[in-house]
Amino acid sequence: MQIYKVGGAVRDRLLGRPVTEVDWVVVGASAEQMQALGYRPVGADFPVFLHPKTGEEYALARTERKSGRGYGGFTFYASPDVTLEDDLIRRDLTINAMAEDEQGRLVDPYNGQADLAARTLRHVSPAFAEDPLRVLRVARFAARYAHLGFSVADETLVLMRQLAESGELQALTPERCWKEISRALMEPRPDVFIQVLRDCGALAVLLPEVDTLFVSSQHERLFRVLRHCAEQAQPLPIRWACLLHVSAHGAVPSETGDRLRLIEAVNARYKVPRECQELALLVGEFQDQAQRAQELNAAALFELLQHFDIHRRPERFEQFIAACEMITLHEGPALSAQSAHLREAADAVRAVEVKTLIAQGYQGAELGEALKRERRKAVEHFAASRR
Ligand code: CTP
Repeated sequence: MQIYKVGGAVRDRLLGRPVTEVDWVVVGASAEQMQALGYRPVGADFPVFLHPKTGEEYALARTERKSGRGYGGFTFYASPDVTLEDDLIRRDLTINAMAEDEQGRLVDPYNGQADLAARTLRHVSPAFAEDPLRVLRVARFAARYAHLGFSVADETLVLMRQLAESGELQALTPERCWKEISRALMEPRPDVFIQVLRDCGALAVLLPEVDTLFVSSQHERLFRVLRHCAEQAQPLPIRWACLLHVSAHGAVPSETGDRLRLIEAVNARYKVPRECQELALLVGEFQDQAQRAQELNAAALFELLQHFDIHRRPERFEQFIAACEMITLHEGPALSAQSAHLREAADAVRAVEVKTLIAQGYQGAELGEALKRERRKAVEHFAASRR
C-alpha cells in the first residue's frame, strides 16, 4: 500500500502558502486493512478513515460515479485496484489534483504545476460536473488567489455555465452553499467571488438579488464595499450585512419594509447563522439613521439605541457601527464623527446606574420605568451638550 499527500496541502506548499490541513490518499489497500492498522472509519459506507494518532483524513483511492441528482447521488468505488491517477482525475481543479509520495516527490498527471505557474484555475476532466458545488468552489478559489494573478480558464467557465443552466445548483443543500459563500466572503477578494459567479450565470440562480445590481452597474459599489471590508479585515457578520444591505438598496431603494423582506429571504435561503442574520437586519433597517446620527434629535437617537440591546450586546453594536462605516466607504472624518456620536450616546445610556435607582427605593415594574426615564434623560442631556 502507498500513501500520498493530496489536494490543498500540496497546492499551498507549491504556492508557498501556509498549509493548515493535510489530506491523504491510500492506494492498494482495503477498508479491512485500514481498520486492522487502527484507522477509524468516518462513516459506514464512505471510504475515509482517521489516523489513529494525528486524526488526519486518509481516503482510499476511489472513483466516484454519479447515480442521481444532488449531493446524495453518489456511489463510491474504492478498491485496491483503483490507481492514484484514477483518484486524481475525478477532482475539481488541476491545481488540486496533485499528490506527493512519501519521499516528497510530486505526482502531477494533469499538469497542475503548469497551471499554478500560469495562474489558471482549470478543471481536471468532465468529472468536474459530478459535483455542482464546484461552481462555488472555483469562484472561492478565484477570490482567494486573485491577488496572485489567478483566473478561471475559459473552458472551465463554459462547464460552470452549463452546470448553472442545468438546474443542478438548486439541488445543493443550503448548508453546503453557505459554507462556500461564507468562506468566499472572508477571502482577500470577495468581489471576485461574486464576479465569477456572475460570469458563469450562477449568480442569478444563487443570489438573484445581487445579480440584478449588474443591470444598473450598482455592483461596482458593492465591489468597493466588499474590498473595503477585506482590506480592513472585517469579520463575516459585517461582510454579510454589507452584501445584503447594498443588494437590498439596489433592488428596492425606497421601501425599508421591502428591503428587510429581501434580507430575510436570503438569510432563510441559506440558513445563515444567527449572528450574521441579526446584523444584516439591523444594518438593513437602521444604517440610514446611523449615517446621519448627528442630525437626529434626542428622542430619535434614544429610539434608535433601543433597538440594539447595547447593554448585553456591546460587540454587536460595534459591528453595526463598523458595517455602516464600510457601507459609506469611510467617507472621511464626517462619517467617523457619526460613529463617535452614536458610541457616546450609547455610553451615556450605559452610564445610568440601576443601583442608584434601587437605592432610591424603586423596584419591579417601577424600576423598569425609572430606568427608561433616566436613560432617555441621559440621551437628552448628551444631545443638548452637542448643540
Ligand atoms: N475536492 C474536489 N471536489 C470537491 C471538494 C474537494 O475535487 N467538491 C478535492 C480537491 O482535490 C481538494 C480536496 O478534495 O483539493 C480537498 O478538499 P478540501 O479540503 O475541501 O479543499 P482544499 O483543496 O484542501 O482547499 P481549502 O484550502 O479550501 O481547504
